[in-house]
Amino acid sequence: MKVKEQLKMLKPYQPGKPIEEVKKEYNLDKVVKLASNENPFGCSELVKKVLVDHFDNMAIYPDGYAFAIREKLANHLGVNMDQLIFGNGSDEIVQIICRSYLGKGTNTVMATPTFPQYRHNAVIEGAEIREIPLKNGEHDLENMLQAIDEKTRVVWVCNPNNPTGVYIPESQLLSFLEKVPTDVLVVLDEAYYEYVTQEDYPNSINLLQKYENLMILRTFSKAYGLASLRIGYGIANPTLIKEMEPAREPFNTNTLAQKAAFVALDDQDFIEYCRNENEKGLKQYYCFCEEFNLKYFPSQGNFILINFGRDANELFEALLKKGFIVRSGKALGFPTSLRITVGSTEQNEAIIQHLKELL
Ligand SMILES: Cc1ncc(COP(=O)(O)O)c(C=O)c1O
Repeated sequence: MKVKEQLKMLKPYQPGKPIEEVKKEYNLDKVVKLASNENPFGCSELVKKVLVDHFDNMAIYPDGYAFAIREKLANHLGVNMDQLIFGNGSDEIVQIICRSYLGKGTNTVMATPTFPQYRHNAVIEGAEIREIPLKNGEHDLENMLQAIDEKTRVVWVCNPNNPTGVYIPESQLLSFLEKVPTDVLVVLDEAYYEYVTQEDYPNSINLLQKYENLMILRTFSKAYGLASLRIGYGIANPTLIKEMEPAREPFNTNTLAQKAAFVALDDQDFIEYCRNENEKGLKQYYCFCEEFNLKYFPSQGNFILINFGRDANELFEALLKKGFIVRSGKALGFPTSLRITVGSTEQNEAIIQHLKELL
């Protein structure tokens, strides 16, 4: 068998250790996973009922057009239905974008470190990857612009950036969009949109009319708490969406995911609750970092990257033994940092206590 050469350069995604395995390995009754920026409060109560109600309909294929959720989401966002594309998580939209626009002889520009799936999918398509180092945890938009040439097809902007949590204010994004050539697609990944509290965070949907080369990515996996069902979406102008649609699998979002997302949108109180709790949780971590003189990036996501100035894997292991799964920064480009998903007040307090003891 002759696999594509570029696949030989990639490793499959390394998932964090599953909770049950950690329990067994370390002989623990309780394990808390704060590694993948999932919602510590679960999802809206409305979701449970709709899933149970659907159990008798498993034999039927999902609606490939995702009509009901499309209509509901379009209203919620104030866009037209033909401005949306749904994916099996926003991960899949990243894949669809790469399938649609990248190939040998093209290049794509992104920050580093950033969300790894941009690079991963672009490598599979055989594109050249142009990675521009972050500056102080922020996208270096000036140098990203410099990296664009006539072979550039896609530029990735992760706002707020994973794993740093740092965001790009509207004014900076606007001056960047003004300078990107109009035939280069700008993907603005807003996976953590619902958690953002900064007033100068871009109102990106308003920008779609002016910038026809802009695509926004959002997801139901984070604040909506539906990560296991896999549903995310892209928002762009209708021509762009139409262009990409053939690269999408016909039944890529499943019925349960569509129905869960539909009712989850009704529960904006839950989203507000999660945003407020997250903000409180971030403050717990900021206080801890300041008390212990640890460097961190102020975050607009539901996670925080803290630099402990020592081997991240050792700290990761030490927390694992206490029943907390976090993400070592080693694989994320920050070898002395941990990326910790913000949990409930009690979970944050518990993890901070363990960290204090370890320090
Ligand atoms: C920045 C960013 N984009 C996209 C995703 C993918 O999310 P999903 O595929 O669950 O929608 C994640 C998940 O961690 C992320 O951090």
